[in-house]
Amino acid sequence: MGRVAVALAVGVAVVACAVAGVAVGRRVRSKKKWNRVVGVLRELEEACETPVGRLKQVVDAMAVEMHAGLASEGGSKLKMLLTFVDQLPTGSEIGTYYALDLGGTNFRVLRVQLGGRRSSILSQDVELQPVPQHLMTNSSEDLLDFISSTLKEFVEKEQNDSETSIRTRELGFTFSFPVKQLSIRSGILIKWTKGFAIEDMVGREVVECLEAALNKKGLNMRVAVLVNDTVGTLALGHYHDCDTVAAVIIGTGTNACYLERADAIIKCQGLLTTSGCMVVNMEWGNFWSSHLPRTSYDIDLDVESPNPNDQGFEKMISGMYLGDIVRRVILRMAQESDIFGPVSSRLSTPFILQTPLMSAMHEDDSPDLNEVARILTETLELPEVSLKVRKLVVRVCDVVTRRAARLAAAGIVGILKKIGRDGSGGIAGTRSRSDIKMKRTVVAIEGGLYTSYTVFREYLHEALNEILGEEVAQHVSLKVTEDGSGIGAALLAATYSS
Ligand code: GLC
Repeated sequence: MGRVAVALAVGVAVVACAVAGVAVGRRVRSKKKWNRVVGVLRELEEACETPVGRLKQVVDAMAVEMHAGLASEGGSKLKMLLTFVDQLPTGSEIGTYYALDLGGTNFRVLRVQLGGRRSSILSQDVELQPVPQHLMTNSSEDLLDFISSTLKEFVEKEQNDSETSIRTRELGFTFSFPVKQLSIRSGILIKWTKGFAIEDMVGREVVECLEAALNKKGLNMRVAVLVNDTVGTLALGHYHDCDTVAAVIIGTGTNACYLERADAIIKCQGLLTTSGCMVVNMEWGNFWSSHLPRTSYDIDLDVESPNPNDQGFEKMISGMYLGDIVRRVILRMAQESDIFGPVSSRLSTPFILQTPLMSAMHEDDSPDLNEVARILTETLELPEVSLKVRKLVVRVCDVVTRRAARLAAAGIVGILKKIGRDGSGGIAGTRSRSDIKMKRTVVAIEGGLYTSYTVFREYLHEALNEILGEEVAQHVSLKVTEDGSGIGAALLAATYSS
């Protein structure tokens, strides 16, 4: 071999080694990046763990806080608001009633015709309008004008039924925010939740505001009851099944109410009720306990939210927030490595990944996870990522959703414990499980997370069984009440106007 040839061969070998070296280096670096991302996932999994022991601590904390909230005003982060609902619909209600349902993504107007025989709803009409984003933060005047205009159009569409056009129409108003009720048909807005922030309405009497707006439109309607969506749901649940003792909403926000003995409501001793019971609106979205598995993502979300230090339980469970927790985890992964390409501005935008999109990714059963790929590119403007990365995203959704569903289950058992329906013999747990005869117990439930997100629902049921044990759990059923928040308000309008 001539000198030139030798030099050439050496040169080629050097270049080949260099290329191989670069490739190995790249592989090592990309392995390191991947490990960092997996590290983020592992950390998340650990921080979100909800073994049954921890869930039972949450159950106990919920029951203890319920007692504290009932004992005195401000005694707990759980407000335990009185609703003045001391009778639930029985099925004998008769006539045509209306309801307005405001409190989340959509606003509904309803008309319900009741037959007067056991639980017969002869007809129901519902009109749904998404609440325009700007009305959630503008003035109360704009929001009330939107409500009354929608109602006016709805009423005008009625066939010229002489009966309904002559008499004053009785209305149930479902207003799903924390309200300090003054009576069955009046109450003061304590604060906004779920992204609403109309400052000029806080501290005002809600029905007075609404009736003024209805009058302006020339509507001949009277608000017979003011209720929370949980209370409407309980009313419809009870109408169909009198073993219904509590109601839970897991939608944009989350909350629960239940039937309490009036003598247990210490902060209102001497309260007059016709039945000796009253429905209590827990406002459990604001529940807090050191046993809740909180992550750095929850802390950041809370700090950057319009209501920091508020609604802690809700921010771990409800539809308004789950998608954003997932977005924050993906953002962190993108910052730790380049597996999602450069961080897009969309990925840094709060609330861009809404929970329905997150659940669509979670429930994507296509072999290539095409839906995950589509949402990542269209909504978060990320480049096409490998199947391995898509699977990682699904795993993040799973961890966040599982924690939410299991915490909601613990909340439900907390209520059952407070009313002695968890098979443990009450707070003190003095009797053994086998001594206790479990009564059939129904919890009415509503909200998109439970009704439309199968994995969420399954995780919730699994956790209920784990906490209660199969034997007790078989006496407890969750029953979906469709449009219960609104129909229930119409039913209560019937109960309280006759
Ligand atoms: C929020 C509201 C509460 C409502 C719940 C579900 O938590 O504060 O009143 O019941 O959302 O809509």
